[in-house]
Amino acid sequence: MNLEAIIFDLDGVIVDTAIFHYQAWKRLANELGFDLTIHQNEHLKGISRFESLEIVLEVGKINHLTKKEKEELATRKNEWYSENIHKMTPDDILPGVKVFLEKLKSAKYKIAIGSSSKNAGVILERIGYSNYFDAVIDGNKISFSKPDPEVFIKAAKELKADPRNCVVFEDAAAGIEAAHNAGMKAIGVGSPEVLCKADLIVPDFRNINISIFDKLI
Ligand code: BG6
Ligand code: MG
Repeated sequence: MNLEAIIFDLDGVIVDTAIFHYQAWKRLANELGFDLTIHQNEHLKGISRFESLEIVLEVGKINHLTKKEKEELATRKNEWYSENIHKMTPDDILPGVKVFLEKLKSAKYKIAIGSSSKNAGVILERIGYSNYFDAVIDGNKISFSKPDPEVFIKAAKELKADPRNCVVFEDAAAGIEAAHNAGMKAIGVGSPEVLCKADLIVPDFRNINISIFDKLI
């Protein structure tokens, strides 16, 4: 691999918004009369809002809702989630991320965001990264969520990079699969149990250097 570009998932990789998603889905589940465990929540990571809702409803064995009712529930969840992300500041960038991104920029690698979220723009603005990445592909620009490779293929295209020379950082099993489906290497950020299919796993970005990519070749 002749490394050209690094693509970052946003939720749970650059910022800890994965917990806000979980809190909002759990609140919705509770209102509907059932619970959503942290384990069940793993399946919601990386996929779209609507697909997530379908899984939540499946957990609660709720299968009688119309499209309109489902849309209302997804909107309600997003309103709770939005309240949290609108309070974010640059201090919410996860430990080690800023330093690592600066190292990548100094080494002249291209960097991109590849996220399924339609809220990516708001989050990037809140944390001061609106114009920081060379490309941002988010939920508004794709038709298929992870594990479909679309988001990463589009990011590579915008960066004018060969997918085979891109590395993805992901916290979701669906995201690792999407990277592989795009022909890219995937580094998991988080727990080895969830990210067992990743080419490499790191707990977070503290003490990560560019030399990490040598381990992928
Ligand atoms: C992904 C998250 O980044 O975005 C998922 O991992 C989430 O959990 C998805 O469902 C869609 O997010 P949003 O912000 O468009 O509801
Ligand atoms: Mg994520």
